[in-house]
Amino acid sequence: MHTLPRLLPLILVIGTQLLEPMAQSTDSSVSSSHAYLAQQALKDIGDRAAPISGVDDGCVRYSKTCDWMGKFPGKTKLVHMNIPGTHDTATWNYSDATQASLIRYTGPIPPARMYRCQEHSILQSLNEGIRMFDLRVAYNPGNDTLGFHHSQALLAPTTRVEDVFFALYKWLDSHPTEAILASIKYEGGSGTPEDSAFYEKLYNVLNSPLAQKYWVQTNGTLGTLGEARGKLTLLRRFSWDKLPVGLEKRFDIPLTPDVWTDNGKNIELVYNAPLKQVAYIEDFYDASADIAKGSGTAAYIDAKFNATTAHLTQAATKNPDQLYINFASAAYISDTPEMTPQIFALGVDTTQGMNQRLLPWLQSHKGQRFGIILLDFYDAVPNLVEAVIGL
Ligand SMILES: *[C@@H]1O[C@H](CO)[C@@H](O)[C@H](O)[C@H]1NC(C)=O
Ligand SMILES: *[C@@H]1O[C@H](CO)[C@@H](O)[C@H](O)[C@H]1NC(C)=O
Ligand SMILES: *[C@@H]1O[C@H](CO)[C@@H](O)[C@H](O)[C@H]1NC(C)=O
Ligand SMILES: *[C@@H]1O[C@H](CO)[C@@H](O)[C@H](O)[C@H]1NC(C)=O
Repeated sequence: MHTLPRLLPLILVIGTQLLEPMAQSTDSSVSSSHAYLAQQALKDIGDRAAPISGVDDGCVRYSKTCDWMGKFPGKTKLVHMNIPGTHDTATWNYSDATQASLIRYTGPIPPARMYRCQEHSILQSLNEGIRMFDLRVAYNPGNDTLGFHHSQALLAPTTRVEDVFFALYKWLDSHPTEAILASIKYEGGSGTPEDSAFYEKLYNVLNSPLAQKYWVQTNGTLGTLGEARGKLTLLRRFSWDKLPVGLEKRFDIPLTPDVWTDNGKNIELVYNAPLKQVAYIEDFYDASADIAKGSGTAAYIDAKFNATTAHLTQAATKNPDQLYINFASAAYISDTPEMTPQIFALGVDTTQGMNQRLLPWLQSHKGQRFGIILLDFYDAVPNLVEAVIGL
């Protein structure tokens, strides 16, 4: 277990009472019992994370994508890279069965297909080359710990955000050339309180001694791949306004909701005014803004494909030193026939979805800068992730 040394400090914090008296000893049987205890604590956290993180199935099947960032020089700027991501990452196991098992918390809500955007777990997607996650956070039932939601859908009742971060730290220990970008957003439709205690808890999770080792500590600007390797970089899609005074530490890229135009095809978001750093974002999630109801599946997918490729073309040709983020994903639209995130991504019958159409588009633009591309159901079209990266 070569991942233990970096994680040990936290486990010692967790088990301070138990471990401190023994930590003085040099007796090897004591240190081997520490290692065993640490392993068990790590397993316990991993089990609690699993409904959202999934389990790490190793790299054997994914030799091309598992450590793809290792081939890029450390001096590469993150804004120059093509980074595949997943939209609404934590929904990957949200089926009608999962929903039924959580109904005592949520009450009756619309079918799972409206909320579900992924089907591979976070750890599997890391091995498959995904490096950016869209995490929607709100209170777990009881309003005490922080967990994962997509609108009204609670995704796991007892998994805490810090459990999932732990799983990511462990993965990074095994993949030290890789960098993960994490977008965190308070999930509004969840019906949970967005109070100062929520932000204080989130602040404390992100500022724990362990988190400080694993999150890039630079504030307000993206650096190089070398600086981000082995770490998480925080893209902050929430405001710290409700934080109690005194909690001043910042190490994030502020993409705050007040400047994130709703349903924008090319949002121009200044995240660092002194350095004139801008994020250009395509977040046209609701294609019904352009398309009359009843126009059919192909028309919706066309509108989304146009918005995505128009933005990717800009990423390839303009503002080479600025950040580009493209949501190639889409939200549910109530129509006949209905449009689910899966139908947008993969089409239906003979109508191709975003992912089938993006694959040749990306391949024919190989070598160009696209920036970050967030996908739904990325795994269902083989080689799509490779085409984003440019492998
Ligand atoms: C995925 O959901 C199913 C159905 O609710 C559940 O049985 C299974 O344990 C879940 N998988 C994980 C990794 O939590
Ligand atoms: C959690 O917050 C919700 C929304 O404000 C409230 O309805 C619920 O009663 C709270 N639950 C607990 C255990 O405080
Ligand atoms: C962090 O960076 C942001 C964006 O550049 C800036 O507005 C803020 O003042 C910085 N905060 C601290 C504590 O340095
Ligand atoms: C998408 O772009 C194509 C080609 O430019 C155009 O023919 C079509 O009308 C556009 N569709 C929508 C829905 O914008």
